[in-house]
Amino acid sequence: MLILGIETSCDETSVALVEDGCRVLASHVASQVRIHARFGGVVPELASRAHIQRLIPMIDACLREAGASLGDPDAVAVTQGPGLVGALLVGVETAKAIAFARRKALIPVHHIAAHLYSPFVGGGGAAWRLVVLDPEATDGSGRESAHAPPEAGQPLEYPYVGLVVSGGHSSLILCRSPRCHEVLGETVDDAAGEAFDKVAKLLDLGYPGGPLIDRVAADGDPARFDLPRPMRSSGNLDFSFSGLKTAVLLLVRELGADRVRTDPTLLADVCASFQEAVVDVLLAKARAALEMTGCRHLAIVGGVACNRRLRAAAARALPHARVVFPPPVLCTDNAAMIAGLAYHLRDDHRTCDLRLNADAALALL
Ligand code: KG4
Ligand code: ZN
Repeated sequence: MLILGIETSCDETSVALVEDGCRVLASHVASQVRIHARFGGVVPELASRAHIQRLIPMIDACLREAGASLGDPDAVAVTQGPGLVGALLVGVETAKAIAFARRKALIPVHHIAAHLYSPFVGGGGAAWRLVVLDPEATDGSGRESAHAPPEAGQPLEYPYVGLVVSGGHSSLILCRSPRCHEVLGETVDDAAGEAFDKVAKLLDLGYPGGPLIDRVAADGDPARFDLPRPMRSSGNLDFSFSGLKTAVLLLVRELGADRVRTDPTLLADVCASFQEAVVDVLLAKARAALEMTGCRHLAIVGGVACNRRLRAAAARALPHARVVFPPPVLCTDNAAMIAGLAYHLRDDHRTCDLRLNADAALALL
């Protein structure tokens, strides 16, 4: 079964063509990071506008690359939420138009459920096309690159614990099946990616902060500064990252902001110590979730799952678990995970009619 997937929930426009829930025939992602970088965060109106400019040409290009036409997919899957409502609407209305015009099934997908499903996606042999949009271009063009296709989906069995760490979410979720999830814990304030982005901002590193801190921290000493591990031993599976961000702010003030920004060793040590605190808390909570549920499999997904320190520390911290990380192209937002999960939603009441609406705060089922 061939599904056309559309993802526009935040600042990545993405289209993919996926067969039977895993084989990726084509995957295109247009990142808006350069558009939002100068504002230090995502500007919702600019995000919607860039989605409108890019989406239809991307659908054409994606189908062309797979040697398919709009009539070929059996269904159209689209992110219904959660996300920025204006951004979501661009995808939802486009998907509805295609479903109506071509009499296709329309499958709404929960963005977080799709991240949780992402380890199963892969294979198919198509290189992933990534375009970083040029903020000056009026036609929505940009710098383009191709990435090696991800290997076939990884060995992961239901039920498993999913740790979702992205710019908008930090949650531990018990995944019983592709359509049955139980939230075990979540952040009470900032998401992990948000903490990376805010700390990078206060260090003048740029946006988005996660990859920049990851890079700078690689040369730093993670034990140099003893930063707090918020809620590490709280007895529940919730997270909190806003106190850690404040602790970094106070540390930078104490050390002298100019000194930290201009002394590469000091900057690397601050970044490494902050990153270590985040990684430490995430893995301690993941361990607690595995103990609580009796699961032996853990999937770490979402943009922060690209973090190299998190990847390196996970197996060491959880020696008795099978820990799975999707490849980086599947960690950040992409439509392949949307089309992949949709395959498992096709035959129940999850398909819908043209009354489908975007839902910025869609609940996870
Ligand atoms: O999943 P994603 O692409 O979008 C959301 O759904 O939010 O995640 C984006 C987040 C950003 O906060 C970014 O800073 C973070 O993922 N991120 C990273 C890394 N790469 C991306 N955080 C830490 N280390 C990285 N290497
Ligand atoms: Zn996401």
